[in-house]
Formats: sequence, C-alpha cells, structure tokens
Amino acid sequence: MSNLLTRLHLIASQFTISPDQIRQIANDFERSMLAGLHGSPSTLKMLPSYLSKPSGKEVGTFLALDFGGTNVRVLLTELFGQGQFTVHARGGKPLKDRAETYNHISGKSTAEQLFDFIAQQIATLVKPGIIYPLGHTFSFPTDQTGLNTGTLIHWTKEIETTGVEGANITALLKDALLRQNLSNVVPEAIINDTVGTLLAAAYTNQFTDIGSICGTGHNTAYLEPSPPWTKEPMIINMESGNFDQLPFTHYDMLLDTGSEKPGAQRLEKMVSGHYIGELVRIIACSLFDEGLLAANSSREALTAPHILNGAHISLLLEDETPEYSNIKSFLEKSLKIVGSTKEDRESLKKIASFVSTRSARLVAATFLGIIHHMDPNLAEHHNIAIDGSLYEKTPGYAETINLTLAQELGNKGMNVTTSLTKDGSGIGAAIATAIAVTMKKE
Ligand code: BGC
Repeated sequence: MSNLLTRLHLIASQFTISPDQIRQIANDFERSMLAGLHGSPSTLKMLPSYLSKPSGKEVGTFLALDFGGTNVRVLLTELFGQGQFTVHARGGKPLKDRAETYNHISGKSTAEQLFDFIAQQIATLVKPGIIYPLGHTFSFPTDQTGLNTGTLIHWTKEIETTGVEGANITALLKDALLRQNLSNVVPEAIINDTVGTLLAAAYTNQFTDIGSICGTGHNTAYLEPSPPWTKEPMIINMESGNFDQLPFTHYDMLLDTGSEKPGAQRLEKMVSGHYIGELVRIIACSLFDEGLLAANSSREALTAPHILNGAHISLLLEDETPEYSNIKSFLEKSLKIVGSTKEDRESLKKIASFVSTRSARLVAATFLGIIHHMDPNLAEHHNIAIDGSLYEKTPGYAETINLTLAQELGNKGMNVTTSLTKDGSGIGAAIATAIAVTMKKE
C-alpha cells in the first residue's frame, strides 16, 4: 500500500463510528434530553414551540417566510385540509450575492438592514388591501414564550449580523414591515425549520413525530408526550446541533478552533453541509502538508476556509468515471488545482465518503436516543421527516441513516420510517399560522 493509502486508512478508522459508539451516543443523547427538559445543565436547549401535531384539517391562505441563513424565501401557500396544499407564488433572494455587492449576514450588517431586506422580499408577493397572515420559519436557536414571540439566543451557521442576538424577532419583523408600508402583512407564528418539517409531514402522515434538518445546518425536533410545562404533548426544538458527547478527531478540533464560535454546535460541526466540506478540506490540507498528495504545488488553493461545501461532497461521491475525470475538472476549474493524480482524486472521494458516512451515522444515533425516550418498547410506529440537501442529494446518505436504524432496532425497526419532506419550512409555517389564527378565534 502507498504511504497515502496507509495514512488514509488510519484517518478513515478515526472517522468510523462503531455499533457500540452508536449505542453510547444514543444513551448520552437521551440523558441530555431529560436533563434539558427538567432544567438541569444540558447541551440540548429543548425549546418549546407551543405547537402540537396538526389535525390535518387546517385550511386557508397564508404567507410563509423562510429565513434559514443562505436565502430568504417567501411563499404564498393555500392549505386545503386532508394533507392537500398548493403554493400559489414564490419569491426570495440569497442573503448575500456572489460578488458581495450586498451581504446581510456579515458583522457589518445590522438587524434593521437585514429585516428591511426580508420585508422587501415579502413585498414582491403582496397586493394592497388584502390581509396576509404570515408564519415565519426562523431557523436558529430561539427562546419562545408563545407561538408568536421568540428571542434569538445566538446565531449559528457563522452568521454575524449585529443587533439580532437577544432581540425579539417578531418585533424586528413587524417594525420592518411597517417601514415598507406592509401593515396588511400580519405575523402570527414563529417556528424553527425542524418544527416546520415535522408539521408539514404530519399534515399528511399521522405517524410523523420527529422532524430533522440535514442540510447547511443540523437540528431535530420531536413531539414530547409529557412536557414539564404543560399536560398536552408539545413539539420541542432540541437544537441538537449543540450536542457534544461525541468522539472528536484531531480534524474536528482543528475545525472547531478555527470556527466563529469554538466549543458551540459540536454535533453540527461534524454532520452538517456547512461544515463537512470544511472537514474534507482540512484533511486534504494535512495530506498536502505531509507531502502525500501529488498536486502539492497547488496547496494554496485549498487554504481558503469553506471553499468546499456540501454540494462538492456530492460531486466527489458521484464520480464513478474510471479516472475520476469529473473530480479532475472540478479541481482544475473551480479550485485551480492542476497536476492531480488518479490516486489524489480517489483519495478525495474516500475522504468525502468517510466524512459523510460518519455524519449520517451520528444523526441516526441521535434519532435512536429520541425514539427510545418517546417509546422505549417501540410499541408505536414513528416516522422521521427529514429535509435538507445532505439527506436529499448526498449519495448513500439516506441509506446509511436507514441502515444504521435498522441494524440497531432489529425486528422492531419496521416501526420506524424516514421520509424526505421537501419545503417543510414553507408548508410548516403555513400550518403553524392556520393553528395560530384558529386559536385566536377560539
Ligand atoms: C440552527 C437550528 C436549525 C438548523 C437547521 C442550526 O444551525 O441552530 O435552529 O434548525 O441549523 O437549519
């Protein structure tokens, strides 16, 4: 075996999560859920959503605002009940453009600028004289005291806009709507994207009681059967990306130290699309430094943080050509790395493979912890609704989650399904708004 392959073999073993580790992580995760629920110190925030599962009968036309970190999206959605809905119109824009003519997520941008930009996107779908109830999917750790009030605890996904942490998000949105003369747009609900995903899937599939995002960020919400604050079941946003009882490698440490908030979001930094490309880059850089990759004249190209993202991981994994020619042209065109050998390219694909497999297995381990908490004997059917580019597009990702669940659950694995729930943020926000409007009338 070449030096490169020997080294890779060693790194791959550090990224392997054994069945024993899966069980350990699931147990620790469940313990952290209980601690968080009962107010003891925990990395899981266990934030109340003030929502339970939808009845499936919610109807009406609503605006859904989806703000998750990369884009702002606005959807005019009509719910018909019985799991039926349609999206009448869509709008939105990236929060920063490639040429950086604007960037609303950097530390130079203010809350006012960001929310004015959001309100301008809403304006593109709104006609004067019509009242639009609006549901806001705000995909960050938000402390809610009701269905329509939430304070941002802290940013994640390396966003730095000033004046938003610690502020009431619904108030920021309402003020911006007024500044844009949009008093006919009425915010009625604020939800996390994991909650939206759960709601959207449960609208059509009553067995859904877990909602998860495996995309740019990572997080999971579930239906808590007996929350300490109320007698009714409630969907809880766990902010599970912050879980940290995990087997970190040297490369995870390097990534964390160089990140915006070292020590925070440790699970997210091992699993989500925003970070797994970065992990591949860090590993590849270390191989360059050890002189193990042939194209080492071009190491410079790989020194820029976050030059690789989740989509690039898919590109590496998808290349089945004999010479890995798609990877070659990606290296040459996008990263200006020339002179790579077939072994270099095969190595990059291997790195992408063990990094993404670890991501899927860690996520599955947390699902096992949640299911065990909700239903220790696995007496009921549970559907886990998942949205996000990693789950949808990364080759082998969904299969690895399902296989890990099946291996651990044995015969009872039949009772657990996963399903892709696209646009959970949009449809979920509409469902939450329908529930809020009905509650107001009662
Ligand atoms: C946020 C969560 C969100 C997840 C997926 C994380 O960075 O903290 O609130 O649900 O990303 O978008």
